[in-house]
Amino acid sequence: MDVRGQVAVITGASSGIGAVTARHMAEAGMHLVLAARDRTRLESLARELELLGVRILVVETDVTRQVEVDRLTRSSLEYFGAIDVLFANAGRGILGSIATGDPELWAAGLDLNINGTLRFLRALVPHLMARKQGHVLLTGSIAGHTVGPNPVYNASKWALRAIAEGLRQETSLHGVRVTLLSPGIVDTDFWANQFGSQGQNNRPRDLGALAPEDVAAAALYALSQPARAGVNEILLRPG
Ligand SMILES: NC(=O)c1ccc[n+]([C@@H]2O[C@H](COP(=O)([O-])OP(=O)(O)OC[C@H]3O[C@@H](n4cnc5c(N)ncnc54)[C@H](OP(=O)(O)O)[C@@H]3O)[C@@H](O)[C@H]2O)c1
Repeated sequence: MDVRGQVAVITGASSGIGAVTARHMAEAGMHLVLAARDRTRLESLARELELLGVRILVVETDVTRQVEVDRLTRSSLEYFGAIDVLFANAGRGILGSIATGDPELWAAGLDLNINGTLRFLRALVPHLMARKQGHVLLTGSIAGHTVGPNPVYNASKWALRAIAEGLRQETSLHGVRVTLLSPGIVDTDFWANQFGSQGQNNRPRDLGALAPEDVAAAALYALSQPARAGVNEILLRPG
């Protein structure tokens, strides 16, 4: 399938996997809505990608705030008229063991990783279903297949597997495909942002990491398959 000319809305587009996937999509000729909280970073990425000859809309969005997701939806539809691809990618690490973790931190992390994803999907999936076409990409994680020392983060990514499968069941007869991207450790700001104080986790390259380009390539692979082929999950491990 040729993705050229399709329109994608990407959450968490200001850095890491979201920003690099935006670049790959723009190089493939896709028009984009870039959403995240950091407007400055989004605008700088937009200026770079517009040089590739595609149309870019920046919408400053905190996906934990319904009013901002509603604005993202409205702005995207007003600007482009139709949306082809949703990339639910915004997320963060959630530190702490069950015996010692901070419930407030868990609540904020779960609200972003699970509810933020659900709010975004609830807002725009009906549009894809009504058009009888489209593709939803979600950033899960290898953490959705394992359990480690930060099990609430694992729980959030296990939840994304259920959400992706539920969405597939709801939408497959409406022409919408769903792909869960489940990478292992990826060399992005994620580690410095969330686990910076935990030294051993702050060195993804030393641990043997994927590059965000690897996840972007997997996203483009899933999008470019013929309509008859649904790539439901891509599990990517370093090495
Ligand atoms: N790095 C890894 O090893 C790894 C492995 C597997 C899965 N993942 C997943 O990959 C996804 C992207 O992470 P990354 O590695 O690319 O890390 P990153 O560079 O820290 O990117 C996280 C993105 O999420 C956005 N974000 C955070 N809170 C948000 C909010 N409330 N509303 C909207 N956007 C928000 C951030 O932008 P703003 O701060 O501008 O809002 C940023 O663009 C996450 O879902 C993460 O769980 C990462």
